[in-house]
Amino acid sequence: MNSTAPKRPSRLRRTAALRQLTADTVLPPAGNMVWPVFLVDGSSRREPIVSMPGQARLGIDELCRDVEPLLSQGVRSLLLFGVPNARLKDEIGSAAAARDSLVCKAVRALRDRFPGLAIFTDVCLCAYTSHGHCGALEPDGAVDNDRTLPLLADIAVAHADSGADGVAPSAMMDGQVSAIRAALDGHGLSNTVIMSYSTKFASAFYGPFRDAASSAPAHGDRSSHQASPSALRQAIRESTLDAEEGADILMVKPALLYLDVIARLREQVELPLAAYNVSGEYSMIHAMAERGWGDLDRMAAESLLAIRRAGADIVISYWANRYAAIAKEGETV
Ligand code: PBG
Repeated sequence: MNSTAPKRPSRLRRTAALRQLTADTVLPPAGNMVWPVFLVDGSSRREPIVSMPGQARLGIDELCRDVEPLLSQGVRSLLLFGVPNARLKDEIGSAAAARDSLVCKAVRALRDRFPGLAIFTDVCLCAYTSHGHCGALEPDGAVDNDRTLPLLADIAVAHADSGADGVAPSAMMDGQVSAIRAALDGHGLSNTVIMSYSTKFASAFYGPFRDAASSAPAHGDRSSHQASPSALRQAIRESTLDAEEGADILMVKPALLYLDVIARLREQVELPLAAYNVSGEYSMIHAMAERGWGDLDRMAAESLLAIRRAGADIVISYWANRYAAIAKEGETV
């Protein structure tokens, strides 16, 4: 071989067929996508979420209506968030564990109508506490980690008992995965999957979600328990500890800002790895598209591709409900 000949890597990219032939990464298949949804009380309710174009808070009947087009695009997994009435909130988020909570009712309704769905539920207190924190508080206002564990376990048991395939604890309390696993097993729910938000960062990119779920903390922030964006090794440890505690699926959240964490974990663990493409990562792309600064579906496709390339198996993303349009763009990225 003549080592002085100029290298021509672009040879492989000359035509669409050659690019596709030599691709090593494709968009996550629809079956690996999870659509996060917000539930509200009442029938025929569909409240568009201003901070998240294309998403709405849905009554249970409206959610069932939206599942049909989702399934026809091949997406068959949901992650449910309850947005309870403000009057149900209290100091310890008791309404979250009620058997007739919105989430439990939605799980039962979906289970009945759509046996082919995989239904996951978010397990946290922040939308149910009067102060908006993810757990019970100590007198000084700090989150009381150990007092929160049984509260989270009760929520998980209620959701699993209603028929959820999996629970997704997102409170970032130490020991929450073992507490939840023990409670599920103790209630004969040993088949319930735990998809742990194992490395969830204290991120400024949850803003649109907190608006949608009315879950912003009334005082302080979540940096005392959520992972720090400036500590990579601790972030990896958060996930490996959850694996030891019995998590079935690990998760990195946000996704696009933490592709390095996804890539590192992919090399280190064998468990399925999920990435949560959060509200801010979704809404900033909508904001660009609205201003005419980029094409919505192409930007979405490129983000899903990046998450996949980093090594995530499962992609939790608000893009899931327009998967077909994005996948069409993805073919040509
Ligand atoms: C609840 C929870 C949050 C998100 C998912 N579960 C918000 C938070 O921690 O404040 C964020 C999701 C998103 O931004 O899309 N603990």
